[in-house]
Amino acid sequence: MNEQLNTLHTTGLAQLSGAANLEDLEQVRLNYFGKSGQVTQLLKSLGQMDAETRKTQGAEIHKLRETLQTAFTSRKDALEQAELDSKLAQEKVDITLPGTAHTTGKMHPVSATMIELAEILGRMGFGHAVGPEVETDYYNFSALNIPAEHPARQDHDTFYVETKDEEGLRKVLRTQTSNVQIRHLQNNPAPARIVSFGRVYRHDYDATHTPQFHQMEGLAIDKDLTLGHLKGTIQKFLNDFFGREVTLRFRIHYFPFVEPGLEVDVAWPIDQKADEKTRWLEVMGAGMVHRNVLAACGVDHTQWQGFAFGAGIERLAMLKHGFNDIRQLFTGRVDFLQSYGQLAAKLTAK
Ligand code: PHE
Repeated sequence: MNEQLNTLHTTGLAQLSGAANLEDLEQVRLNYFGKSGQVTQLLKSLGQMDAETRKTQGAEIHKLRETLQTAFTSRKDALEQAELDSKLAQEKVDITLPGTAHTTGKMHPVSATMIELAEILGRMGFGHAVGPEVETDYYNFSALNIPAEHPARQDHDTFYVETKDEEGLRKVLRTQTSNVQIRHLQNNPAPARIVSFGRVYRHDYDATHTPQFHQMEGLAIDKDLTLGHLKGTIQKFLNDFFGREVTLRFRIHYFPFVEPGLEVDVAWPIDQKADEKTRWLEVMGAGMVHRNVLAACGVDHTQWQGFAFGAGIERLAMLKHGFNDIRQLFTGRVDFLQSYGQLAAKLTAK
């Protein structure tokens, strides 16, 4: 028995230290410690021995197991270390390799313009309001003093959707953000001072029109607001938006929901004075809120009055940044966005 243990001891140690890699070492381990491994067998044989033999042999067998176990662990550590070393040597990082360039994404000019306008008007005391894009006939038209059969409805090439409203009229994709005026006034007591941004839809497509575009709508209602306040507000926020004193022309124009109604033109190019040779470019609609609109919202026109203004976001962005095809905004071309987009950090730093 002792001879058998001695042989196992010598050959075991020799095989363990001779294992060239982790797979070989595993084979050796199974040979001794596997289910039918030689050491395992010896340990099992302890059960058949009489008490006296077990006492002496048991200690020897356990000693052998321990020695081989320790030899196995240290060989395993050595082989693992060697494997890691060679891996590290192979995977050396080539620091001379050029890196991957990262480009910074920019905010789309439409989003950037809306944020910029919201900031300017926010500083002037206009809070933010929102309204739905799928709208009822009432909010998009009737409440804005555009009853059914009114010719002004034809100015808007309206998209109708299948869904009907409570009156059985088909809902529309809103053609203007003016719906927010009504919704705000009906839900909030006067006075009001809000601005709203969002998508609007008209069936139209050419260099200056896309079927979906964005508008801004401003509304101010108070006890003693006049056309002077309207003009002053528009002058101030367009100055801030274009970054210089702009020359404006207010021209009478008909919008059913304001009286009087105006269109606002900017002298172009903006760095010229009005008396120099300029073109007038229309930038927005505006006017004093019509008393029918106030009535539709339950606002007493003998107490309250005010003004509203609306502008196309794409048009303002195009004028400010100098590109002339609105469709460029919606092609999603990265080179266009890199040129005309804005860094978000730059916007909020102002
Ligand atoms: N809703 C008008 C349009 O889409 C713009 C406008 C808004 C005009 C507010 C006057 C007052 O053309």
